[in-house]
Formats: sequence, structure tokens, C-alpha cells
Amino acid sequence: MPGPAQSRSVRIAMNAAAAPREAPPAGPLTPTGFADAYREIGAWPAYAPTPLTPLPGLAAELGLGAIHYKDEGGRFGLGSFKPLGGAYAVARTLARAPAARGIADVAAADLMAGRHAGDLDGITLVSATDGNHGRAVAWGARACGARARIFAHDQMSAARRAAIEALGAELVICPGGYDDSVREAFRVAGENGWPVVQDTAIGDYRDVPIDICHGYGVIAAEVLEGLAAGAPPFSHVIVQAGVGGVAAAICARLWQALGAARPRFIVLEPDNAACVTASLEAGRRVTLTGDTHTAMAGLACGEVSEIAWEVLATGADAAIVIGDGWAFEGMRRLAAPLAGDPPIVAGECAGGAVGALLALAEQPALAGALGLDGASTILLIGTEGATDAAIYAEIVGRTPAEVAP
Ligand SMILES: Cc1ncc(COP(=O)(O)O)c(C=O)c1O
Repeated sequence: MPGPAQSRSVRIAMNAAAAPREAPPAGPLTPTGFADAYREIGAWPAYAPTPLTPLPGLAAELGLGAIHYKDEGGRFGLGSFKPLGGAYAVARTLARAPAARGIADVAAADLMAGRHAGDLDGITLVSATDGNHGRAVAWGARACGARARIFAHDQMSAARRAAIEALGAELVICPGGYDDSVREAFRVAGENGWPVVQDTAIGDYRDVPIDICHGYGVIAAEVLEGLAAGAPPFSHVIVQAGVGGVAAAICARLWQALGAARPRFIVLEPDNAACVTASLEAGRRVTLTGDTHTAMAGLACGEVSEIAWEVLATGADAAIVIGDGWAFEGMRRLAAPLAGDPPIVAGECAGGAVGALLALAEQPALAGALGLDGASTILLIGTEGATDAAIYAEIVGRTPAEVAP
């Protein structure tokens, strides 16, 4: 929600442990896992690739070679990229659940088409969310025919709560922040023997977060198909990080596919919840304490997932940390673009990607340190559309329908 004094801070951190360009990809995400997820998700009834939109007007204004915006706002009609991971993991988790008899070898596409709903009645899946992940899990559970109980913190907006409940999930509001709701979800699931579908890897809890990352890899797979069809390569990619899952997925997938020719990988975080950046600076996984609230709701995380860290510790070249004010600026700029660029409805996390470039344009030394110049071709991930229309209108001054009729 826009507050009276939105921070317009910006800083960067270079990763001293970044792998040399020729180093082989690191981490637990595998080419086979990515390929399986792409094949499975590509067979879902509602699957369609999201657009990759060039923004030549913005690139010219900022003195950059090219900017391309991968717009995840329309993904499955759910407003963000999250179903790629959350719903894919729902299907994979259900196929593994001991209570789900006889569906161990069933394809995710068959589960998502509801062909085994009768086998899943009575199974409750549990998750915690800042909004988008819970909506994705609720959607996947409903499509498969299972139940979902979603835990959320008490600062989550009314519209985001309603979007989860509209998908038939039971929503439980807990005190504290996102990380507290994750702990509560695991506690309740453990007491009841319910499967958890969470994007944070902690200790032995790895299979589901790995599935989620492999699902997110579809974003990179779609970008790679464009490159294979002759699109010019990217010199830089900027990806937002909450627990780091989507950043790790895109980093790993591009690294595996492009090797030494992969783009420079920059993680984007809010100044209040920069847990990946703090970890890169410390050279080890750091947990932030204190208030991690940010208007970029999906990024309000104080702990980077262990799986994400295993990729980003060497796969990230740098991080950029911005205040919420830049995210709002990015949303407004996408809504009212310069000549030549189409208007785009972007939520707070997505607006942050453009906001980061606007912030860097005012700080040439930082842009130079990241190697950004007139030859740079930049891939931005527009991770969400207007996932809360009222908040969007308050920030941008127009409704989503007025911006992109
Ligand atoms: C819109 C949006 N962008 C980015 C992210 C960050 O994803 P991750 O938590 O995998 O880092 C989230 C997470 O919820 C999100 O909802």
C-alpha cells in the first residue's frame, strides 16, 4: 500500500563469489527437472506462453541498448507467474501423497484436468503465502480436486485474501510476518499429517521447493525459445527475489542453456527485505530479523530458500536493492509509457524491475558497476499484473482497465 514517505533508496552489491563465466552450472535444479516441468505444464488446458514486450522508448530514454519485459500478469488468468511453480508442485505433491491411492504415475496434466478428483477427495494441502503463491496453490488444488488450507500474515490486503478464498481454499490469518506464517503452516501440517506445498527449502524439505523452481523455469524456457528463433541475446537479466525461488530458477535455466554466454544475473530486492543481498554480502545464508514489510508484497521475505541460495550464491553476479518508491515509479512509467512503448499493467513487484532501471539512471556509477550502457540488452521479468486492483489504482491514479482497455 502506498504510504506517506516511500523510500527512493537504491544500492547495489557485487557478488564476490560469482562463478567465472565458463564455470559449469551449480545447484540442485536439473535440466531434466526443467524439461519435465515444461512438458507437463505445457500440456495443461489453460497453458499459453506470456508475451515478451520490447520497450524501445524506455531504453532510449535511459541510454540502454534494449529492454524486453516478460509480462507474467496474464499467466493462467491468475495475475502472476506463481502458478507455474505452486500449481505444478500441487500436482507433484498429490501424486506423491500416501493418502492418494493409485495415482503415483499420473501426469500433472491429467491431475490438473481433474481426471483424478475422486481419488483426492479428503486430502488437504497446506501452504503459507504473501498472496500470489497461496492463490496458485488454491487454484491447483481446486483443479485437481483436493482441498487447500492457506496461511497468511495479517498485513495481506483484503483483495488478495478474497482472491484465495474465491478459489475455495480455507484462509487462516496469523499474526506476524510472512516467515511466521510459514512456520505456522508447517506446525499445523505436521500435527495433522497434511502435505505442505511451500516454496522455501529448509533442512530435509527440498522436493517441493525444487518442483516449484523447475516449474518457474518455464519462464526461461519461453525466453530461450525466442532466442533460438533468432531474437538477439541478452546481456543482463534482472529478477526479483522473495525467498529467491524464481530468481534461482531463471538463473539456473539460463546458465544450463547458455553457459559462458549467459547474461549477467542481477537479483532485485526491496530495501526492507533484502535477504539474498545480505547473504551475498556475507558469503553465507543470512536470516534477517525485524520488519520485512514492503509494498512489493511477494518480496517481503527475510530468509532465502536453501535451494535458491545453492544457485544464487555463485550464479548471481550482483544485487540491486530499491525502496518502494521506485517500484511505484516503475508501475506508473509502465502505465504511461513514452511513445513507441505499449501501456502495461504491472503490480508492485513487477514495477520494481522498471523502477530499478529508473533508479540506476540517476546513479551512473552504480549502472557502470553493473556494466549497463548503451550496448546493454536487458531482460526484465514482469512477475505480476494488478493483483490488487484497488492498490494499483491508488498508486497509478488509474484503474487497470483504464491503463490497458
Ligand atoms: C509477484 C511476485 N514477484 C516475485 C516474487 C518472488 O518470488 P520468490 O519468492 O520465488 O523469490 C513473488 C513471490 O511471491 C511474487 O509474488
